[in-house]
Amino acid sequence: MKQSKDFLLRSLTLAVAVSALSLTVQAEEVPRFPVNNPEVQEGQYVHVPPTMEDLEEAEMHPELKRVIRRGYDLFMNTQQLRGKNVFNSMNCSSCHMGEGRLPFAGPVWPAVVVLPNYRPKNDHVNNLEERISGCFSYSMNGVPPEYGSDDMLALTAYHHWLAKGVPVYQPGGNMYGRGYPRLEDPKEGMDYDRGAKVYAENCSICHSDNGSGLVERGEVVFPAVWGDTSYNWGAGISRHFTLASFIKHNMPLGRPNSLSEQEAWDVAYYIDSQERPQEPRYTGDVKETREKYLDTFHKHTSYGLEVNGKLLGDHDNVGEKDFLKPDVLRPRTFTAD
Ligand code: HEC
Ligand code: HEC
Repeated sequence: MKQSKDFLLRSLTLAVAVSALSLTVQAEEVPRFPVNNPEVQEGQYVHVPPTMEDLEEAEMHPELKRVIRRGYDLFMNTQQLRGKNVFNSMNCSSCHMGEGRLPFAGPVWPAVVVLPNYRPKNDHVNNLEERISGCFSYSMNGVPPEYGSDDMLALTAYHHWLAKGVPVYQPGGNMYGRGYPRLEDPKEGMDYDRGAKVYAENCSICHSDNGSGLVERGEVVFPAVWGDTSYNWGAGISRHFTLASFIKHNMPLGRPNSLSEQEAWDVAYYIDSQERPQEPRYTGDVKETREKYLDTFHKHTSYGLEVNGKLLGDHDNVGEKDFLKPDVLRPRTFTAD
């Protein structure tokens, strides 16, 4: 079922208002601009995911509701798995904003309706559990919960709930606001100094001058944008185009789409020119690792490049964890005939 655009816009404005509301507790002065996201294009599939309030009303077995509630709780407060599966200051909701429901903010329901599918990043057919594992290994700089475990079941159940009513095997390119849709290439390239200025003026108030954000009593108030407690060099958002789009459509918090596209590219480049935990696929040599995953990934990152005289990613620092590569990243292929 396609909802009307008005309804979509109302829900989105509401979602942003809600996140801006929770923000006023931390930063009183942030103005609330309208969302201003791109228009729905002809033929695009629009889905407004159900909320947790809808879940309470839904006709479902109470046991299923209980599992979905647990998945929601893990998605919003993934820090409860810190030291076990998560080794940085990140929740799933740090990047998948509005409870994983918002378009242009990495809504997670599309994964449910396009998977299982072939994924170039790891060169085999992935299911939803493996896709979620990817974000644990890179974005959370951690190790995924076991396949089939309670936590994995709960997380996948929450993803499925958000996809309620969407036909399966949707063609990937045609879903409104999927992922972090790519901006036009920057007219003036990407520039470190311009990016530093954008950061100082718009971002450091929350994410701090050294990128470490703010964690209070085990709760992530502002996630880290670089450094030991941020995502690692293999994370999808470390690609310039992904980060630029995330920033354009979602940051500064409460003022989405207030930066120009050029400013978003510049500040993404600035953030990507800082250090973060080692890429889990590191071979021991940063240039070699960059080369090995160049086409499928690193041609879009600053990893293994020299910026301001320092070679990025040239170290053994894996952040807070005590391993480089989680087991789940061991190569696997579909072996049956
Ligand atoms: C540091 C940012 C970040 C964090 C934290 C993060 N992700 Fe992601 N996630 C991404 C990016 C980037 C993508 C790829 C989006 C794209 O391709 O445009 C992605 C993609 C996904 C997808 C696929 C969506 C699709 O359209 O197919 C799922 C599912 C997902 N993440 C789940 C999770 C879960 C669950 C967690 C928490 C355990 C999590 N992510 C944490 C950045 C993040
Ligand atoms: C008012 C506080 C605030 C400001 C200002 C702000 N952010 Fe954020 N940012 C957040 C919060 C909070 C999140 C996590 C999302 C959530 O919990 O809703 C976040 C998430 C992020 C993330 C994804 C998670 C991570 O840590 O990597 C990036 C990247 C980011 N912000 C970049 C920026 C940039 C660039 C700017 C400036 C243009 C900016 N932010 C301004 C509060 C802020």
